[in-house]
Amino acid sequence: MGCGRKIGPYDCCTIITDDCLHVMAEIPDGIVKLIVTSPPYNNHENKRSSGGDKPAWRPALRNIEYGSFDDEMPEDEYQAWQQRVILEMLRIVKADGTVAYNHKNRIRNWGIISPLSWILPVANVRQEIVWDRGNSPQVSPVRFLPTTERVYLIGEGRPHFKPEHLIDKEVWHIPPAIWDGIPSFPEPLVERLIDALCPDNGLVADFFVGSGTTPAVARRMGHHFFGCDINSDMAERARERVRNTQPPLFVMQPEQLPLVGAR
Ligand SMILES: C[S@@+](CC[C@H](N)C(=O)[O-])C[C@H]1O[C@@H](n2cnc3c(N)ncnc32)[C@H](O)[C@@H]1O
Repeated sequence: MGCGRKIGPYDCCTIITDDCLHVMAEIPDGIVKLIVTSPPYNNHENKRSSGGDKPAWRPALRNIEYGSFDDEMPEDEYQAWQQRVILEMLRIVKADGTVAYNHKNRIRNWGIISPLSWILPVANVRQEIVWDRGNSPQVSPVRFLPTTERVYLIGEGRPHFKPEHLIDKEVWHIPPAIWDGIPSFPEPLVERLIDALCPDNGLVADFFVGSGTTPAVARRMGHHFFGCDINSDMAERARERVRNTQPPLFVMQPEQLPLVGAR
């Protein structure tokens, strides 16, 4: 892999194994057009979310596990970490670029924790996409079934935005996806974000790359990509997925076609 271009010390169109903040610290300001990412949700307290001693969720459904990452931090540390991550992502995104940050409302102590509580103190949210997954394993005896997540479009100023998407609605009905046994972004969700927010040949990045949906879709659509994951097994699976993804075939423009009958 690698297209020959550089992103700071890293090769463009590669996926590396390392911590997101460590990686981003080496990346110059304003060179990424679009980040599509989904951090770990710090889900460990789902089991106590109804407020009692007993688990609210069936044990097998409590947490999504990503390799060796246990998704368990004190909540205030988690939010401070996410604020640092968002600020770094904003630093490396171009002025008309976007950070598409996927997260969800989590339920704790009979109330929700909205991701906006840590995003808005440090960043501007241009739009909140509601991603309706259509279903959920989070059945509880005391509330309606939560089936939605959010994609926050974060950035300063006027973004690049493709006019073809002007009448797309801000609620997206897209079923969840599993890739190679790993809960992952559905490809149509990433594809719509890239198509609307990234011009041709733009650089699309994901610093929590997981199964590699963002770089795989970016490659399939003919963009440059870059990604990292702290978990070496995940990073390798993402590399494998991207290796197996074909970039678009070169399409000849009319003036490049040979003239029939020309001498
Ligand atoms: C929610 S998953 C991402 C799923 C991804 N969107 C997909 O489509 O497969 C979060 C990923 O972040 C990784 N991760 C956790 N902490 C990290 C860190 N400090 N730096 C980089 N990656 C990290 C985990 O290993 C996990 O693969």
